[in-house]
Amino acid sequence: MAIGILTSGGDCAGMNPAIKKFVDYSFDKALKPYLIYDGLEGLIDGNIKEAKHSDVAGIIHEGGTRLRSSRSKRFFELKYRQQAYENLQKLGINRLVILGGDGSFRALKQFYDDFGVDFVGIPATIDNDIFGTDYCLGVDTALNMIRYATDAIRDTSASFKRACVVETMGRNCGYLALVSAATCGAEVCIIPELEYDLASLSKKLKKQLHEGRKYIVAVVAEGTNSTKKLVKWLEKDVGIETRATILGHTQRGGNPTVYDRLMATEFVIHAIDKLLSKESKDGLVVVYRDGEFKFVTIDYVNSQKFQIKKELLELASKMVG
Ligand code: F6P
Repeated sequence: MAIGILTSGGDCAGMNPAIKKFVDYSFDKALKPYLIYDGLEGLIDGNIKEAKHSDVAGIIHEGGTRLRSSRSKRFFELKYRQQAYENLQKLGINRLVILGGDGSFRALKQFYDDFGVDFVGIPATIDNDIFGTDYCLGVDTALNMIRYATDAIRDTSASFKRACVVETMGRNCGYLALVSAATCGAEVCIIPELEYDLASLSKKLKKQLHEGRKYIVAVVAEGTNSTKKLVKWLEKDVGIETRATILGHTQRGGNPTVYDRLMATEFVIHAIDKLLSKESKDGLVVVYRDGEFKFVTIDYVNSQKFQIKKELLELASKMVG
């Protein structure tokens, strides 16, 4: 029985350990594993190769994805999905594991509806913004990259009695910024999910500076589009020399943490076991919720917008005003 794996959308640490586990576990289960390169684009172009152990040897510690990734516009068109289906048919592949975000899952659900190719999605995005799962692969590594950078920036800020504005990724979701602000001891945290009060923050920070504070750390989510505004506010209103660092794609790379390697392993085992089971699938995503692995439908994942838990949002209460 043939089974394929692809990585789609924004890459993240944890994808390589997942690819390795996919190949190893497929062999354990007497399956024929196939590697689909370049995401959905590679599916269309037939960039598919039967996996050998040597393809995945020594990649468990690598960031990024050996299979590469893409954001495919062509896959929205039936004629390209047809082409993709024919590529899979030629190789006898009728089961897929896809690592990516909800957009990638939606694309494969359409593919399933068109041609009945079974698949299980594994949530993999540093944004941690997929409804139905508490955890997406790559988040822990991204948080640790942010922590490393923020600790370093704080060192130099303290040497100069400066403020630093650290901008994180996350698209429209403030999860990365919120958790980073809370765990790096930031004074300010600006995320799309929370209102903030600069006047009240100014008053508080000015008093602290007067009393001897040596630096200010402000963590800002890219989705608020407010980095420049905050630099100006810190310099003009709070009265402290300020530098901004946009962490950008450093957050998407780096060696996967132990947690991401372990989660990659678990996600893949659950995905393959489900694809081998007789239950009806209809496009499923393996999620990690309340400490357990579960399966939900693509429709469920797409039914609501992800929301950060209230208890986590409360961690920012002193950092917004
Ligand atoms: O979805 C992952 C993500 O890294 C977002 O946080 C970010 O907004 C976006 O992708 C960046 O995309 P690109 O790599 O195409 O610039």
